[in-house]
Amino acid sequence: MRLGILTGGGDCPGLNAALRAVIRTAENQFGSVVIGYRHGWRGVVEGDSLELTGAATQGILNRGGTILGTSRFHPDEHEHGIERGIDTLTRDRIDTLIVAGGDGTLAASHRVEQQGIRIIGIPKTIDNDVSCTDRSIGFDTALSTATEAIDRIQTTAESHDRVMVVEVMGHHSGWLALSAGIAGGAHVVLTPEEPFDLDEVASYLRHRHQHDSFSIVVVAEGATATSDGAEPATLPTDPVAGAIGERVRAGVVARTGFETRLVVLGHLQRGGTPSAPDRLLATRFGIAATEAAHEGESGVMTALVGDSIHRVALAEVTQGIKAVPKELIHAARALMF
Ligand code: F6P
Repeated sequence: MRLGILTGGGDCPGLNAALRAVIRTAENQFGSVVIGYRHGWRGVVEGDSLELTGAATQGILNRGGTILGTSRFHPDEHEHGIERGIDTLTRDRIDTLIVAGGDGTLAASHRVEQQGIRIIGIPKTIDNDVSCTDRSIGFDTALSTATEAIDRIQTTAESHDRVMVVEVMGHHSGWLALSAGIAGGAHVVLTPEEPFDLDEVASYLRHRHQHDSFSIVVVAEGATATSDGAEPATLPTDPVAGAIGERVRAGVVARTGFETRLVVLGHLQRGGTPSAPDRLLATRFGIAATEAAHEGESGVMTALVGDSIHRVALAEVTQGIKAVPKELIHAARALMF
């Protein structure tokens, strides 16, 4: 069999572990050939490929990013993109293409699959918002990075009696903000799921500072404020890093007079060495995707459900992003004091 593989969307730690698992399983277990496409779907459409052998997998298990490169290129959004992609896959005699991507890449892949290309998906995103899977590759590492950052910020906040606003990634989803906020002991967590009122945030901080002298406010980059009427109801398609964080910082200063600083964690959260759980998950997904391809599957994605790896239909995965449980939102509030 000849397998194709690409990594699409934003990079994240653990992608190389998935590539390694696919290449080694294909070669060792099935004697198959793996062709990699550079920079996501762009490489398929532009015919930019290379053969990946066991040698390419040496030393990549613990390396962040993706050795194939990535992009947010979707073939069906470009003139003749799908036809050109099919030409490349025919040229390379690809039987099945494995796509590691987040919700955008997986949705595009589902549309392409409906045009007759055999595809198996692997979920990856630090946002953890891909549907039908308990975890996506990259979330665990980003959560540790963001939590460690909050821990560090806490000691300087305490020393200076300041409010520290920490902006974390998550355009549409509060998984990372809530999880890191709870793990790091943040006092306020603001998410895209629930528009917040700056007056309420300020009043809570004033109340808190009657018995304590510092506060940590975690805000997801896609969170929206409602109180001063300046925030549009819909999110910008491309969030500007620091925009909502600065809004919260300035809003807190204007309402409380507390000395307040903003830290934007940004792409720090996407870089670096994958955690052990991410390496393990990526490896399990890579093996499962390769086995699914060899069983003739298409239009499915590997998923973690409880402790087991399952296959779920891409048609179901692409219905929408995975909602944050109400219990997690509640947990972020329950321990505030
Ligand atoms: O999709 C993952 C993500 O990290 C989001 O949390 C964030 O909004 C976005 O990527 C940033 O993308 P880019 O690297 O293209 O600016």
